[in-house]
Amino acid sequence: MEILKIDNLSKVYGKGETAVKALDDVSFSVKKGEFVAIIGPSGSGKSTLLHLLGGVDRPSSGKVFVDNTDIYSLNETQLAIFRRRQIGLIYQFYNLIPVLTVEENITLPLLLDQHKVDKKQFSDIVKKLNLENRLNHLPNQLSGGQQQRVSIGRALISNPAIMLADEPTGNLDSKNSGEIIDLLKMFNKTFNQTLIVITHDERIALQADRIIAIEDGKVKKDEVVRP
Ligand SMILES: Nc1ncnc2c1ncn2[C@@H]1O[C@H](COP(=O)(O)OP(=O)(O)OP(=O)(O)O)[C@@H](O)[C@H]1O
Ligand SMILES: [Mg+2]
Repeated sequence: MEILKIDNLSKVYGKGETAVKALDDVSFSVKKGEFVAIIGPSGSGKSTLLHLLGGVDRPSSGKVFVDNTDIYSLNETQLAIFRRRQIGLIYQFYNLIPVLTVEENITLPLLLDQHKVDKKQFSDIVKKLNLENRLNHLPNQLSGGQQQRVSIGRALISNPAIMLADEPTGNLDSKNSGEIIDLLKMFNKTFNQTLIVITHDERIALQADRIIAIEDGKVKKDEVVRP
């Protein structure tokens, strides 16, 4: 089943002489449960693409369908709700809220949606992320790997259709990096959670089912590693 489909997606930043075509007529689709790595040089348009897939920004032209919904036909309020429920975002620098505890950071998306926290689901996630003994800590009291595990928990708590990660291990040493990728793969395989990861690390890309290479805003290569 197709969970994500993008049609002729383009993004131009700025106007006139300073306009930059960051994404140039990109089309592909992703199956539910697929693990896709996105690679490419700095400035090639990877983060731009990920933001458009996640409803974080609007394209200059083209369409994004998530679970058959044309997400850019939604108004701002509907798009914000869509993002919160269907997209789990993970960034290189975690983007946690500094004044909230680990538990509050993880459950924030549910509270914003006025949904009750499912205690069992919460404790399952926290256990898998090995954060049980850190629930009342603040982000600055955690290691980098722990902070990234919190951001994975926050991304997973609303059972999103798609997990999007922009260089999730870019700030971590190789041991923590390996642990984070193993966790993402575990959620991908165990819960059939669709996973799209931008990475500069070839070892990570080679663990994906499929590698999409972006260059100058275009898909340069699209290869299935594992059918
Ligand atoms: N908000 C913005 N305003 C203007 N130009 C932008 C903006 N964001 C990105 N760009 C430009 O768009 C192009 C693609 O940027 P993008 O961040 O998508 O690259 P990237 O592949 O993620 O690079 P990196 O590997 O360094 O993170 C770059 O040339 C960049 O300068
Ligand atoms: Mg980037």
